[in-house]
Amino acid sequence: MKVTHYGHACFSVKAGGKHLLFDPYIKENPAAPDMDLNTLKPDVILVSHGHFDHILDAVEIAKNSKAQVIANFEICQWFHQQGYQNCQPLNVGGTYKADWGTVRGFQAVHGSSFPDGSYAGIAQGFIVETDEGTFYYSGDTAATYDLKMIGERYKLDFAILPIGDIFTMGIDDAIMVSGFIQCDRILGVHYDTWAPITIDKEQAKKKFAKAGKELILLEPGVEKDI
Ligand code: NI
Ligand code: MN
Repeated sequence: MKVTHYGHACFSVKAGGKHLLFDPYIKENPAAPDMDLNTLKPDVILVSHGHFDHILDAVEIAKNSKAQVIANFEICQWFHQQGYQNCQPLNVGGTYKADWGTVRGFQAVHGSSFPDGSYAGIAQGFIVETDEGTFYYSGDTAATYDLKMIGERYKLDFAILPIGDIFTMGIDDAIMVSGFIQCDRILGVHYDTWAPITIDKEQAKKKFAKAGKELILLEPGVEKDI
């Protein structure tokens, strides 16, 4: 599957014949590639929770591209309030069956409020199944034993986990979670955006390799087959 990391927790995956964009936060992201949001034409935008660093560009890109948004009920209401109706609600534990694949909402242990401080529902991650493969994006979360359910139920081709620590799990916990979800190929996100979540990338890769796992860190804005 072709994957592009746009910095922080924003990335896209081409799967099931669709362009899926996750957690758009590009314009105000100090670590994002210099790019025009209008060039992004996703078919689907998935939003894990309401924090600014996952949602700030979501409405603009949705309006530009007319993409279908998939997010929890409260986030869909928020899109409606801003004049965007094409939002499919999907809450924790639910599975949405699209014509290109399925998306399951999975609980994340994390807060969720909109940039104005109002309630944004429960933070979640997504398990995406398509004919081309299956992947899991955890969203912002801590490591929890709940994640073992994913390993027991799905055969993941890769997973996208935060590794920057402080606001989410860090590198050591991501290695542990990789065991819980039974997936040895991890794309790291949510690091290096600001000073508190700066990581040593080479050391992180070495730690994963020592545990028999692969940590993939992509250059922002460059598409890669993973
Ligand atoms: Ni967050
Ligand atoms: Mn975040």
